[in-house]
Amino acid sequence: MHTEEDYNTQYGVTPADPAEGEGLCNLLKTHEVDTSGPALEIGCGTGYLTFGVGQHYPGPDFLITDPSPAFLCLTQNQFDGRSTGTTRRHYAVFNADDLSLLPAEMFSVISLRSTLHHILHVDDFIAGCARALKPGGALLMGAEPVESGYLLMASVAKFIPTALRAAGVDMKPEWTRQLNDFTDTVKFSCIRDIDKRTAEDKHMFHPHDIAEVGAAHGLQMKFLPTATFRDYAPPFARSFKGFTDFFFIYIQYCMRFDAEFLELIRAHLKDQLSYIDDCYRSHPGPAMTGVFLLKKTQRNQSRDFS
Ligand SMILES: C[S@@+](CC[C@H](N)C(=O)[O-])C[C@H]1O[C@@H](n2cnc3c(N)ncnc32)[C@H](O)[C@@H]1O
Repeated sequence: MHTEEDYNTQYGVTPADPAEGEGLCNLLKTHEVDTSGPALEIGCGTGYLTFGVGQHYPGPDFLITDPSPAFLCLTQNQFDGRSTGTTRRHYAVFNADDLSLLPAEMFSVISLRSTLHHILHVDDFIAGCARALKPGGALLMGAEPVESGYLLMASVAKFIPTALRAAGVDMKPEWTRQLNDFTDTVKFSCIRDIDKRTAEDKHMFHPHDIAEVGAAHGLQMKFLPTATFRDYAPPFARSFKGFTDFFFIYIQYCMRFDAEFLELIRAHLKDQLSYIDDCYRSHPGPAMTGVFLLKKTQRNQSRDFS
C-alpha cells in the first residue's frame, strides 16, 4: 500500500524515539536475561524499536536486519549524528526464513516488533530462535496481533453498516470497501488452512500457542498482555488506554478510515464500544497485543513450565 519511505506517515509513527528500545532493555534486566552476547533484531523497518536498543543494549554487538535494503537504510540513518550507546551496530539484509543459516547459540537477545505476523512458518521460526539463542538469552516480540482481540474489533466493525442504517446514514461505497478490507484481513489472518505465501499480513496469535511452541524448544514464555515495550521506559505509563482507543487508532492508521466515517462510527456505536470498555474498567484488556518474552533455560536449570 505504500513505500518504505512513507511507512512512518502511514502509521503515525515518530521516528528515532528511544523509549521503545529502552523499555525492551529494561525488560532484559527485570527478567535477568544474559546480555553478554550479541543482540539480533529481525524486521527493523524504519527503526522504531532499533534506535533505543542501539542506545541501551549493554551487550557488545547489535545486528540490525530487514529483508528490505530500503528499510535498512532508513534505520541506519536514524543514528546519524545522534549520541548512541556502547554496543557496536552491524547491518544485514536478512529474511527470518533463513534463521537456520545462523550459528547455534550465537545471540543473547533476538528482538522483533510487529514482524512475527509477516513470517510464514512461525513454529519453525521460534524453533530457529531457540537454536540461535545462548542459554539464558531471550526472544522478545512486541506489537503482534492477538487473535481474540482482533476478532472482537472485526465483530464490532461488522455491525457498523447496521448501526449507520438505523441512524439514517447511507454507507458510501468507499466506506464499504474500507470496512471489508478490515474484516476480510482479520478473517484471512485467523484462518489457518490456506496458502499465505504471497500475503503481507499472515497471522494472528493466541498466547497459549506461542507458549506451547516455545516450551517444546526450551523457551519459557512470559506474556505481558496489552503491554508495549515503551511501557517499561520512563515515564512508565501504560500505552494501552482501552478497547475504544485502540480500535480507533487501528482503523484510522492501519485501515485508513476517513475522518467522516470515523466520526459516524464514534457516534453510532457508542453503546457497543463502551460496553467493552466497562468490562475492563478495573483491569487492562482485552489483550489486542502484548509483549511475548521467551527465555531460553540455562543448561544447568531444570525446566519448569508450570
Ligand atoms: C510492520 S513492519 C515493522 C517494522 C518495525 N519493526 C516497527 O516496529 O516499526 C514489518 C517489518 O517486517 C519486515 N519483514 C517482513 N517479512 C519478513 C520476513 N520474512 N523476515 C524478516 N522481516 C520481515 C518488513 O520488511 C518490515 O520491516
